[in-house]
Amino acid sequence: MVKKLTLQTIFALVLLGSAVFAQELPKNPLAGREVFEKEGCLNCHAVNGTGGTVGPDFGKHIFFGNSYDLISKMWDHSPKMLLTMIRSNTKRPEFTGEDFRDLGNFLFFLRYLGREGSASVGKRLFVSKKCSECHSLGRPVAGKISLDSMKVYVSPVYLAQEMWNHSVEMHKKGVAKTIKLPTFSDNEFADLTAYIRKASLLKSEKEVYAYPGDPVLGEKLFKEKGCYYCHVEKPVGPNLNRFNLNKSVTKIAGVMWNHSDKMAVAMKGLKRPYPTFTDDQMADVISYLYFKSSPKTTGSEELGARLFKEKGCGNCHQAGNHFNAPTVDKLGPFNDKDDFFAALWNHAQHMEQLLTSQGKQLPKLLPNEVKSLYLFIDGRTKASR
Ligand code: HEC
Ligand code: HEC
Ligand code: HEC
Ligand code: HEC
Repeated sequence: MVKKLTLQTIFALVLLGSAVFAQELPKNPLAGREVFEKEGCLNCHAVNGTGGTVGPDFGKHIFFGNSYDLISKMWDHSPKMLLTMIRSNTKRPEFTGEDFRDLGNFLFFLRYLGREGSASVGKRLFVSKKCSECHSLGRPVAGKISLDSMKVYVSPVYLAQEMWNHSVEMHKKGVAKTIKLPTFSDNEFADLTAYIRKASLLKSEKEVYAYPGDPVLGEKLFKEKGCYYCHVEKPVGPNLNRFNLNKSVTKIAGVMWNHSDKMAVAMKGLKRPYPTFTDDQMADVISYLYFKSSPKTTGSEELGARLFKEKGCGNCHQAGNHFNAPTVDKLGPFNDKDDFFAALWNHAQHMEQLLTSQGKQLPKLLPNEVKSLYLFIDGRTKASR
């Protein structure tokens, strides 16, 4: 049986619209959703509650990592998965390189979207974060600024953007009222957004969803808005390459907000205008920061050559072996790493059977080990052509 995901379960927070990532990013991050369904991942894994319960729910237990991390995790859980699949009489998934790439992008994307906020948590935060000292919601309060109009924004990025844009006034008001403005962590922007949407009295059919952001535009904005000046050109703030923003869009918004005050002070000192954002600009910048910080996996051909022996690959992949395994220089050619991952994954079952018959187990493969093996095998294959 093939389970199905609905758009609503995945994109509770973000509706994709026609926006597409350019450059290194997938044209259609949704493509991987089909692989996820077709190959039966959904029989064991759910996304935000829809799907199986044997493995972790990728909406809650968000997968952090790049495609090397993914193949490593999938490889290590292959034997256990196979057992469950034999018991439930389902077919072991097989991939093409393209499938694997789509799947990786899809899971990578879920992490970016983050979790949906909780209105009840948001209600508590509205008070504990002191928003209620200066703002009203629902019932108007004299002297307080109503936030009801924020209801139309489904995505927390817009709340973050509005706060960012008003950061200077907010901090000024904070000083006048001797209130220290809050900082944000975790999913707090999403919780506040959920609460605002629930408590607002605004009647409006209009709803503004986020789009994922365009990192290429974001890179341009990073220069134009002066971020580049402090984070690359002059050593005023931490260097962009050292940002650790391997986080959901909501968390990155929090990190940005948290530094808006210090930044405003520094901008004044530098006699530069405080940068504000319109439309989807903050989402663009955030998606750029997200992809700039995507995890890097190290690895080398030399390590690959050693691992090929140590992990037992060489026992089978050598001239005159009894298993009909191709020699190492005949293993490729592979178009790219995803192509290699697919070939590796597709042969895990056969390899495991052969190893089990010798009383051995499938070796574990760490992300840097997969990368090294790929570099080694790819190098050997290309050299022999
Ligand atoms: C038969 C059940 C089953 C199927 C089918 C299945 N998985 Fe899993 N998966 C699990 C279980 C159980 C775990 C928990 C880890 C473990 O115990 O090995 C897991 C863990 C994972 C993890 C590691 C999560 C983490 O962050 O630690 C990834 C990634 C993953 N699966 C991806 C997939 C993908 C992609 C598919 C479809 C191609 C898939 N799985 C199909 C059962 C399954
Ligand atoms: C010390 C007072 C103060 C506190 C505390 C405060 N704000 Fe503000 N906020 C302001 C001021 C002043 C403005 C600017 C209003 C204007 O320019 O019209 C503002 C503007 C905003 C705006 C933009 C409103 C719009 O219509 O564009 C949002 C959104 C907002 N605040 C959210 C929050 C949230 C959420 C919190 C709690 C985490 C919070 N504020 C805490 C004073 C405060
Ligand atoms: C006037 C200088 C200045 C400008 C302009 C500036 N920043 Fe910063 N930024 C800093 C400083 C200083 C810090 C570190 C201080 C802190 O932790 O609050 C920082 C920290 C950060 C961090 C946290 C990094 C981390 O990993 O902890 C992010 C993200 C960030 N800035 C993004 C931006 C973006 C995006 C822009 C443009 C909209 C921008 N900055 C513009 C000075 C600046
Ligand atoms: C027990 C024997 C055995 C071991 C150990 C083994 N393989 Fe294989 N491998 C095979 C056989 C047999 C094939 C031929 C295709 C098939 O039967 O799945 C193969 C095929 C492959 C392919 C696919 C080639 C293609 O063009 O589709 C790759 C890649 C590969 N092996 C990599 C590895 C790596 C990396 C290791 C070590 C982690 C390894 N193998 C360990 C037996 C083995």
